[in-house]
Amino acid sequence: VADPAELRVALFGTGFMGRTHSIAYAILPSFFPELPLVRRQVVVDVTEDLARRGAHQFGFAEWTTSWQEAIARSDIDIIDIVTPNDSHEPLANAALAAGKHVLCEKPLALTAAQARAMADQAKQSKGVAMVVFNYRRAPAVVEAKRLIESGAIGRVLTFRGLYLQDWAMPDGTPWSWRFSAERAGSGSLGDIGSHVLDIASFLVGDVVAVAAAAETFVPKRSLPGAAGHAAVDVDDCTIALLRFQGGAIGTLEASRFSHGRKNHLSFEISGTKGALSFNWERSNELNFYSAADSSNVQGFRTIVMGPANPGGDALWPIPGIGTGYIESQVFQVGEFVRAIVHGQEEGSSFAHGFKIQTVMEAIAAAAQNGAWTPVSTDETK
Ligand SMILES: NC(=O)c1ccc[n+]([C@@H]2O[C@H](COP(=O)([O-])OP(=O)(O)OC[C@H]3O[C@@H](n4cnc5c(N)ncnc54)[C@H](O)[C@@H]3O)[C@@H](O)[C@H]2O)c1
Repeated sequence: VADPAELRVALFGTGFMGRTHSIAYAILPSFFPELPLVRRQVVVDVTEDLARRGAHQFGFAEWTTSWQEAIARSDIDIIDIVTPNDSHEPLANAALAAGKHVLCEKPLALTAAQARAMADQAKQSKGVAMVVFNYRRAPAVVEAKRLIESGAIGRVLTFRGLYLQDWAMPDGTPWSWRFSAERAGSGSLGDIGSHVLDIASFLVGDVVAVAAAAETFVPKRSLPGAAGHAAVDVDDCTIALLRFQGGAIGTLEASRFSHGRKNHLSFEISGTKGALSFNWERSNELNFYSAADSSNVQGFRTIVMGPANPGGDALWPIPGIGTGYIESQVFQVGEFVRAIVHGQEEGSSFAHGFKIQTVMEAIAAAAQNGAWTPVSTDETK
């Protein structure tokens, strides 16, 4: 069992997620003082300007535009990949081949075949490899799991998962890598639907078959800062029916075209004895209905997260102070560093990332062929 007093991270990418991961490393010791410090050593981006600005803004000691140089350094323990999806596979595989620990943003890859290659590489590497599914780390989501496992809602019958946003509505949003199959793999499905599928897998179990419909509402978009347009060849919205291993059935709706919904990652799970519901826009609240309550007081109760809930001992002294997006990334990074210390991946290994990718691929195929489609159950090597 390794017990390094200090780890050093090279961060690849200085965009939205580069920022949140950097904050998570910086404040990790105030949440988990028992874990090794993670030094923000070197930041990598494709231009000198981006890399230099990233180092300054995110508190890294050094910057470079060469990812090869960062991976080759013997003083770097962790490679954190927060780049667009098309670079996940080459960067992660090179890092794992060099024996580094790898944290990679979701979706793990562009395709299931790529994700399988990454999971195989992770199995052969001495490094710990995890894919970021930060939303499942929210105390309310972990409390939902605890309640399900304790039998509080009985056997799960149905799952309804939504991830709705409206930033891609026609007026105003220019083309970006998120609208390109070559760079993103898929649209709403991989970008936000992957989080719902992760939560479904975490709380209900494996998805074994799917049916689906998908649509691209705006087939071309203006190029940022330039004349002309580029094609959109990914889904703007995907809706799927899900069959789970244990007999439950469910739905997934992933859309960047839902007016009024900003970051509406929500689920409702009904079982034989009760139900649970959650919406990220009220991320401190878990709603729980118990059929065991006497009928005069039956109704969903709203539990406000606090020290008695999962992860609460790392948080604030009374309930209701609140946790948000950054805390979800701190919990994610904490789990990753704990896995390095203990030498094993917990919940979201690359093998899990591959499994989610196989469900997404089955959903994309089902949307094309209009038929119920089994999810491939092939294991990695
Ligand atoms: N977990 C979440 O909640 C969440 C949220 C948003 C994005 N993401 C994921 O995070 C990843 C990054 O998304 P983002 O929103 O930060 O994107 P972004 O476009 O804001 O930033 C990406 C950065 O990576 C840089 N880059 C591109 N190729 C690179 C390379 N080879 N080496 C180093 N840097 C490179 C770009 O120049 C840019 O600075 C994506 O995989 C996305 O799906 C996850």
